[in-house]
Amino acid sequence: RTILHAELSGEDVIVVSNREPYIHQRRGERIEVQRPASGLVTALEPIMRACSGVWIAHGSGSADREVVDKHDRIAVPPEKTAYQLRRVWLSAEEEAGYYYGLANEGLWPLCHIAHVRPTFRSGDWAHYVAVNRKFAGAVIAEAKTKNPIVLVQDYHFALLPRMIRDELPDATVITFWHIPWPNPESFAICPWAEEIVAGLLGSSILGFHTQFHCNNFVDTVDRLLEARVDREAFTVSLAGKLTAVRRYPISIDWPPAAEMVGKPIEQCRAEIRQLNSLPAAHAIGVGVDRLDYTKGIMERFRAVERLLEMKPEWIGRFSFVQIAAPTRAGIDEYQNHEAQVRALATRINQRFSRTGPPPIVLKVEHHEPQQVYEYYRAAEFCFVSSLHDGMNLVAKEFVAARDDERGVLILSQFTGAARELPEALIVNPYDADQCAAALHLALTMEPSEQRDRMRLMRGLVAEFNVYRWAGRMLLDAAVMRRRGRLLGKSA
Ligand code: G6P
Repeated sequence: RTILHAELSGEDVIVVSNREPYIHQRRGERIEVQRPASGLVTALEPIMRACSGVWIAHGSGSADREVVDKHDRIAVPPEKTAYQLRRVWLSAEEEAGYYYGLANEGLWPLCHIAHVRPTFRSGDWAHYVAVNRKFAGAVIAEAKTKNPIVLVQDYHFALLPRMIRDELPDATVITFWHIPWPNPESFAICPWAEEIVAGLLGSSILGFHTQFHCNNFVDTVDRLLEARVDREAFTVSLAGKLTAVRRYPISIDWPPAAEMVGKPIEQCRAEIRQLNSLPAAHAIGVGVDRLDYTKGIMERFRAVERLLEMKPEWIGRFSFVQIAAPTRAGIDEYQNHEAQVRALATRINQRFSRTGPPPIVLKVEHHEPQQVYEYYRAAEFCFVSSLHDGMNLVAKEFVAARDDERGVLILSQFTGAARELPEALIVNPYDADQCAAALHLALTMEPSEQRDRMRLMRGLVAEFNVYRWAGRMLLDAAVMRRRGRLLGKSA
């Protein structure tokens, strides 16, 4: 946090993301503030609280435009102003093409290999280009100097780095791609693969969660563009502009805010069981995700079913509580997925709950972060079974929530987090028997082993927290800026 303050004091900092950190909605006379389920928001919010600046985001969730003032800017967070949130408003057509279409039916399945075919439509692409241009306009309007530091977030804005660079050649553009980057063969099926890669190469620094994704990106550049690739320095030079491709594993706020871990564990255990009509001594596991097909929720439920087949002693003594935040509901694939998840939960419950509580408690609704932490603190284990995930911050949040050093993390090998948390029970979500065995192990693990594993994981998250993530990117950028000033070049 101190490094952030030192590096950023007096700097002109702008963050751009699609998702806004706060959703303001009018409910009658009241204005309700909600914090959306998004790993990106979870990570960036504490950074923005630590350094004042402007966060530019799509005003999607704020149904009522009048809620924010007429300049489309609002000071946040609500309890203590730290930075400015500037909304960019999109028409329904722009949102359909850029957000639902190109970003979430095209790039999202393209980059997550989860066996859902990407869909590419030229109309969506046209909106994507236009919306990126609209956000470039917002960045230029918000920049107070000729050389701001602009932090561009995620696959919604692949073209933005180059657009910013064209207008503000002295800007330092740090782009972070929060999702995986696939191999060149996979990426090249996108009809606009070259434009996307060239757009990203407007960045001074381009970050991914893992070295594997950096390698895939550099291989893709090599395949698609006439660019100079330096594999030792891990830089790419296109049209005289140098981009450093670096690994920055994202993380969470540490230590967790007092309101997240304030309620005693015993109280969380009792309240969560009562809330879900489960007996006081009932064992519970928890899953927390957006209701997204990449998260492996079907595979997770099948593992629970397999556990009850293999170890019937758990029938009636254990339930798995799945918190599933509704997401991207305008997309067919998400609607189908929700129907399948609901049907599978019903089938498993019909099969195993004749005499007692249902083995699966499915809660398809938004939960505020504080409620989510109560579930983490109440559970014997947390199960993250993503089929593919850039990092997965739920895994790190669960670890942060367990200051009692108890609880077991079961973690898919296909998450970035699995590389940092080898003390979790690492599983292949496609292997139901292996997952079921891990569930049984989690439910029977000795407290001393839970503590040993949890201590190591907590140590890792404490050291590599989100300030370290942002701090390392900004330090690298600061070195570039200094070098650039010396040599009279832009960073
Ligand atoms: C992932 C993406 C984020 C996105 C989040 C929630 O974490 O990397 O960019 O904000 O999912 O998805 P949504 O479409 O609701 O913003």
